[in-house]
Amino acid sequence: MKVITVDGPSGAGKGTVCARLAATLGWHLLDSGALYRITGLAAERQAVELTDEQRVAQVAANLDVTFEPGKDGVAVILAGEEVTTTIRTEEVGSLASQVAALPAVRDALLQRQRDFAQAPGLIADGRDMGTVVFPDAGVKVFLTASAEERAQRRFRQLTEKGISASLPALIEDIRARDERDSNRSVAPLKPAHDAVVIDSTSLSIDEVCDQLMARVQQAGLI
Ligand code: DC
Repeated sequence: MKVITVDGPSGAGKGTVCARLAATLGWHLLDSGALYRITGLAAERQAVELTDEQRVAQVAANLDVTFEPGKDGVAVILAGEEVTTTIRTEEVGSLASQVAALPAVRDALLQRQRDFAQAPGLIADGRDMGTVVFPDAGVKVFLTASAEERAQRRFRQLTEKGISASLPALIEDIRARDERDSNRSVAPLKPAHDAVVIDSTSLSIDEVCDQLMARVQQAGLI
């Protein structure tokens, strides 16, 4: 099966780039972060302690979730309720990062992620797509950007939505999250040995997509 993995820290532009690539190629898209977000939300709703690894893993293994094409992209339905915007909140992001640190949860979500690899191909967006979930992917990309640039992007997103934010606090927050994600013992955030690293700090989305498409062509995937 043809698989392209795009890993990297949050704010590097993975989501936008992967959605665009999937639309251009007509391939499937796996937003693996959404699965961790949904698991965090489902655990909270079922009043499961996030420190109770086995019970959170059971929640992950039994997620009643569907992804349905909607007018603004993919709609996420959890136990019959649309949670598309709820899972994008900072609060759910924090639940996600806690459940993502539990090895049993990662194991429970492994096969579900691999099941997304279907014809004609898959773009997989995450942190460990190239290292753990799809080690045989035809093209692996590690997309990154400086902490300052990622904080600026987040700052712009928040202020555009009318939410007040502090840039220094965002930079601090992103640095702390990078540190945690890169140093955790299970599936730490790092480029696969055979990944190409793209630094998007001073690149536009179009430029990143062009570089990626060139790689995909070079690898003979299209
Ligand atoms: O990309 P995101 O912000 O939606 O990810 C939510 C959380 O899940 C974040 O803390 C990183 C974690 N995650 C992970 O550990 N492995 C993945 N493949 C995807 C996300």
